[in-house]
Amino acid sequence: MGKLAVGVAVGVAVVACAVAGVVVGRRVRSRRKWTRVVGVLKELEEACETPVGRLRQVVDAMAVEMHAGLASEGGSKLKMLLTFVDHLPTGSEIGTYYALDLGGTNFRVLRVQLGGKRSSILSQDVERQPIPQHLMTSTSEDLFDFIASTLKQFVEKEESGSEPSPVRTRELGFTFSFPVKQLSIRSGILIKWTKGFAIEDMVGKEVVELLEAALVRSGLDMRAVVLVNDTAGTLALGRYHDADTVAAVIIGTGTNACYLERADAIIKCQGLLTTSGCMVVNMEWGNFWSSHLPRTSYDIDLDLESPNPNDQGFEKMISGMYLGDIVRRVILRMSQEMDIFGPVSSRLSIPFILQTPSVAAMHEDDSPELREVAKILRETLEIPEVSLKVRKLVVRVCDVVTHRAARLAAAGIVGILKKIGRDGSGGITGGRSKSDVKMRRTVVAIEGGLYTRYTIFREYLHEALNEILGEDMAQHVILKVTEDGSGIGGALLAASYSSYSVDNSQHLVVMASFNDHQAPHHHPLSWVGANSAIHGPFCPRHYLAVIDFTTTTILHKEYVIAITSDKP
Ligand code: BGC
Repeated sequence: MGKLAVGVAVGVAVVACAVAGVVVGRRVRSRRKWTRVVGVLKELEEACETPVGRLRQVVDAMAVEMHAGLASEGGSKLKMLLTFVDHLPTGSEIGTYYALDLGGTNFRVLRVQLGGKRSSILSQDVERQPIPQHLMTSTSEDLFDFIASTLKQFVEKEESGSEPSPVRTRELGFTFSFPVKQLSIRSGILIKWTKGFAIEDMVGKEVVELLEAALVRSGLDMRAVVLVNDTAGTLALGRYHDADTVAAVIIGTGTNACYLERADAIIKCQGLLTTSGCMVVNMEWGNFWSSHLPRTSYDIDLDLESPNPNDQGFEKMISGMYLGDIVRRVILRMSQEMDIFGPVSSRLSIPFILQTPSVAAMHEDDSPELREVAKILRETLEIPEVSLKVRKLVVRVCDVVTHRAARLAAAGIVGILKKIGRDGSGGITGGRSKSDVKMRRTVVAIEGGLYTRYTIFREYLHEALNEILGEDMAQHVILKVTEDGSGIGGALLAASYSSYSVDNSQHLVVMASFNDHQAPHHHPLSWVGANSAIHGPFCPRHYLAVIDFTTTTILHKEYVIAITSDKP
């Protein structure tokens, strides 16, 4: 071999080695990058783990907190609010009622015609309006004027061509899905905002007064006969269709649950007298907290940066308002850790830019090359083409976050069943073996887009329910989608509590005793006289009162003198 040939061969070998070195170097670096990103994923997976043992701890904590919240005002982060709904629709409701459903980024107005037989809704007309973003943080007057004018236009359209009744005011069920301290079935004070609303002047105000003032300003003759939470509306509709319905759960933008409780178990309101011996309790479970909840650094940051830190902890792990933002935070961290997504996209730092419907779409993308994932990364997060491996990683993140949310929601539901003795364990104190407990069919009405529209979420929730309860027990528990419960349920409750309903013509004559801070003008009773004022501003005073079943429930039964059928 000539010298030239040897030289060329050596040269080629050197270049080949150099190239191989570069390639190997790149591979090693890329493997290291990948290992770091997988490390972030592993950490997330571990922090979000919800083995059945942990879920059972959450179940127990939920049941214990329910007791605590019923025992005393402020006894738990679970507010366990009275709703004054002491009877649920039976099917005999008849007539035309309106409903206003305000609780998320849209509000809806409805007109429902009830036929007087179970499940006989003759017609329902609905109009949905997005709430302009600026009204969610403006003034109560702006918000309610907007709502009242939409309602008025809706009524005019619905009733065009028909004469309004000269003797009957239109009746409305007002579904207002925020934490409210109810004063009666048709009045209540907003405790705080959730789900991104922040109209400061409304906190602490009586909600129905604000609505009715706007109705008067708009010239619409309509009266709110009930003020209810969306959970109570859902329970009402659930019961209307199925008499075994005992609780209702919402898993949508926000999350919450209510259930039917025995009046004597509501210790914080001793002597509570209701027509049925029961009352629907609005748990406000979004605010539930327990050290058993699997919390990650992403949850902590999300909470700290939210307008309501330390509040709605359970909701922030479960509901549609937040899941997208948890996923965004994980992708941001991965992207900062290593450049697998290319240069860090500035969109990744925008709170709530990635919404839960996008998470669901990526999670449920079944195309082999994950086209939907690539599209959402590109269009929403401005992350250009990434490899299939990276797209799969994103799907895995969606999976971990959704899996935890669904399983925690299932634990919450079993917590309620445990509290009311329907989980097969013999109630909160346990004691009886599963075989001793005769199980009754138990229906939980359920509503909210996360459950109804996100199939994987729903499947995970059911899977967890089966794991916690065991197959035998789980077959007695039915989760029934109650579509539009918050709207139609509001109208149904308006019918149940209508002042024109013959069932509501009973009146009570009572002597009631109240402290000054529960002054009568804040109280829904129709006062006919005060027989004595004892000493000092905080001493109890005695009043002679007439209570109208259409507006209230009796708070102090020891003072009841007589029940009459006629107005005195
Ligand atoms: C509110 C609840 C409501 C739930 C579902 C929560 O943010 O506090 O009152 O029931 O969302 O809409």
